[in-house]
Amino acid sequence: MQNTVNPTNTAASIKACLFDLDGVLVDTAVYHYKAWKRLANSLGFDFTEEQNEHLKGISRAESLNRILAWGNVEKSEAEKLELATLKNNWYVDMISHMTPAEVLAGTVDFLTSVRKDGYLVALGSASKNSGIILEKTNLAHFFDAIVDGNLVSASKPDPEVFLKGAELLGVAPNQCVVFEDAVAGIEAAKRGGMKAIGIGNKNVLTRADMVVSGLDKLTSQDLKRL
Ligand code: BG6
Ligand code: MG
Repeated sequence: MQNTVNPTNTAASIKACLFDLDGVLVDTAVYHYKAWKRLANSLGFDFTEEQNEHLKGISRAESLNRILAWGNVEKSEAEKLELATLKNNWYVDMISHMTPAEVLAGTVDFLTSVRKDGYLVALGSASKNSGIILEKTNLAHFFDAIVDGNLVSASKPDPEVFLKGAELLGVAPNQCVVFEDAVAGIEAAKRGGMKAIGIGNKNVLTRADMVVSGLDKLTSQDLKRL
């Protein structure tokens, strides 16, 4: 079942910021790419960076389905579970060595300033590895609530991950703004009745209310313009 929330009061003021993790706060795409490529190569086909772009915001299980389809390989559900675990083990090996230096430009300043200005802050990520990433990059302390792939059953573009974040923070969806780099994530925010700030290219993130190249281009004052 897909959740959709109709915005009832579009003029509500923003009280909470919900952040995607991969591609918004940290750049883990390169590690996902290396691990999926290793898996694809072990199955006898290649996996390109361009294909990797299409997996942003997509869950691990769905990413594997797409990769197997690109490689024209069929696997049973049990085999898929094994392959996803193998990929994840390689991925976790890499992210275990992440440091705060890998936090994207502007992230720490922006999180500090929204908290100082009284906004509530939550994570809304598809990843089941958010805990280790937040710990290694020293970002965990910024969050009032953390919702990740371990807590949700429906993947983006379903809004479940963000609706759960709003619920945990005790705010209405139309009091939330979502920061997202993936088309599926912007769609999830919009279906949830939230504002969305795209991190990336405005020709790609066409449904976002505002698009910037990174959090270093934003201040918490910009949220008043939404
Ligand atoms: C998203 C990434 O944040 O998390 C996707 O953009 C990834 O590429 C998904 O597949 C799931 O991540 P994980 O860490 O649970 O395999
Ligand atoms: Mg992302």
